[in-house]
Amino acid sequence: MTTRPRTPGPNAPAPGKLPLTELLEMKARHQPIVMVTAYDAPSGRLADAAGADLILVGDSAAMVVLGHDSTVPATMDELVVLTRAVTRGARRPLVIADMPFGSFQVSDEQAVENGVRFLKEAGAEAVKVEGAGPTLSRVQALVGAGVPVMAHIGLTPQSATMLGGFKAQGRTAEKARRLLDDALALEAAGAFALVLEAVPAPVAARITAELSIPTIGIGAGPDCDGQVLVYHDLLGLTEGHLPRFVKRYANLSREIRDALEAYAAEVRSGAFPGEEHTYEMPAEELAEFEGLDRAVRPRER
Ligand code: KIV
Repeated sequence: MTTRPRTPGPNAPAPGKLPLTELLEMKARHQPIVMVTAYDAPSGRLADAAGADLILVGDSAAMVVLGHDSTVPATMDELVVLTRAVTRGARRPLVIADMPFGSFQVSDEQAVENGVRFLKEAGAEAVKVEGAGPTLSRVQALVGAGVPVMAHIGLTPQSATMLGGFKAQGRTAEKARRLLDDALALEAAGAFALVLEAVPAPVAARITAELSIPTIGIGAGPDCDGQVLVYHDLLGLTEGHLPRFVKRYANLSREIRDALEAYAAEVRSGAFPGEEHTYEMPAEELAEFEGLDRAVRPRER
């Protein structure tokens, strides 16, 4: 009997890709999971090179890349393009596409249609959805259709208006209890991980202890199974006020502006381009070129 090389099935991980099931093992080993957002091929490549486990193509792109004031205007078409770029740059990390506002709220069918788009057209491994309540049946439908789902509760920016603004959530015993119930319901619905945003640390710790799936915190204290930050925030590319949970690891805005100013100054002074940036041609070709009759402009013909 001859054997043929096997090609991976549609849901088999690409070679070198972190298996989704490894996340459960990381939780069991208490090995922190590193997640960061990215929005294009270079940021995907850099996050991969830095050893990130998960990359989220967040709908935060609407604010940090596309210049909107909130995440609400982000569209499926925009997120598909950005996710496709990230998956071209990132090899090992699992790439999770954020389902933008309006892409899953209408019905389970709409959620599945758009979730499948992210896997087929953009090469994502999974999607993220905000909320609980009506989102539970979306999670079930997506997982049932073979689309792995990361859930997201606490401060959910798509519904910030209904939550009274960009504020910490779960700060009373009753609201914290509701978050715990939502977390358990999302796990039961089939989510493989849960983002907890802007939640008091003891509440996130309790949710983390009660769930068997990993929690990824952003402004949720040190006891989550992993942490996530927005790429532009942690690199110092975001202007203006930042939430208290952001830590800046670099000030790239200043470095980029300094570099652009140096470039502009050198263009104006003539210092750029130098000889080393300029192409030469053989001397005899140059002499012949310089000896040619003046070129005839189209108008003069
Ligand atoms: O859109 C995003 O970047 C997010 C993270 C902040 C979790 O949802």
